[in-house]
Amino acid sequence: MALEALDLRKEFIRESRSSNRFAAVDGISLTLEKGEVTVMMGRSGSGKTTLMNMLCGLLVPSSGSVKLDGDDIYALSDSRLSRLRGSRMGVIPQGQTALGSLNVLQNVLLPCTLCREDGDEEHVRELLGRLGIGELAEAMPAELSGGELRRMSIARALMRSPEYIFADEPTADLDDENTALVFDFLKETARAGASVLIITHENDASAYSDRLLTLKSGRLAE
Ligand SMILES: Nc1ncnc2c1ncn2[C@@H]1O[C@H](COP(=O)(O)OP(=O)(O)O)[C@@H](O)[C@H]1O
Ligand SMILES: [Mg+2]
Repeated sequence: MALEALDLRKEFIRESRSSNRFAAVDGISLTLEKGEVTVMMGRSGSGKTTLMNMLCGLLVPSSGSVKLDGDDIYALSDSRLSRLRGSRMGVIPQGQTALGSLNVLQNVLLPCTLCREDGDEEHVRELLGRLGIGELAEAMPAELSGGELRRMSIARALMRSPEYIFADEPTADLDDENTALVFDFLKETARAGASVLIITHENDASAYSDRLLTLKSGRLAE
């Protein structure tokens, strides 16, 4: 099954402008297929994060719909939508998401902890190892570099093996070697059956993509 966006629009009010209503996302339709990596590029401010947040259930569109297995996710109650997000989607947001009072392992297990589930600690250690930060499982976030924190948040998003993975500039703080490692890993996750959307500025990301989308002023450019 696929995730389908139909004519998505998001309008914001911008206080500093006289004609202050504008569309950050202006009528976008797309389908995210299982097993595929979709790479989304575009200049800063072109609407990438806004679009991603609507696709993953975090931001209610002004109009249009997002359908998962044929059901409009924004027609669900808040609690059903957050359950669906927790069980089927993995989001790697822009910026840092670490809780400073928890160590790396506990941070990655946080989605389970919040749902009162037992997380699979061995699986988390394996994920951390794959991401090159296995030896940091017991470290505290304050001891980590930006790139290490970023990989921790990738592990957290992938921990429950989601069907849909949304990554907003996941390699922003990484060197070339770790950028390749993360792209390889996301590609492998797609090949194992997930659908992966990656927002990125890395030009070599197109080498990993099955589909390349470019956003321009809230619209898809050809
Ligand atoms: N909550 C908001 N309120 C008002 N304007 C916003 C809000 N979020 C984003 N924008 C504006 O919408 C446009 C698209 O933003 P964004 O989706 O973050 O772009 P990108 O991720 O491509 O850099 C930008 O002009 C930004 O300033
Ligand atoms: Mg953004």
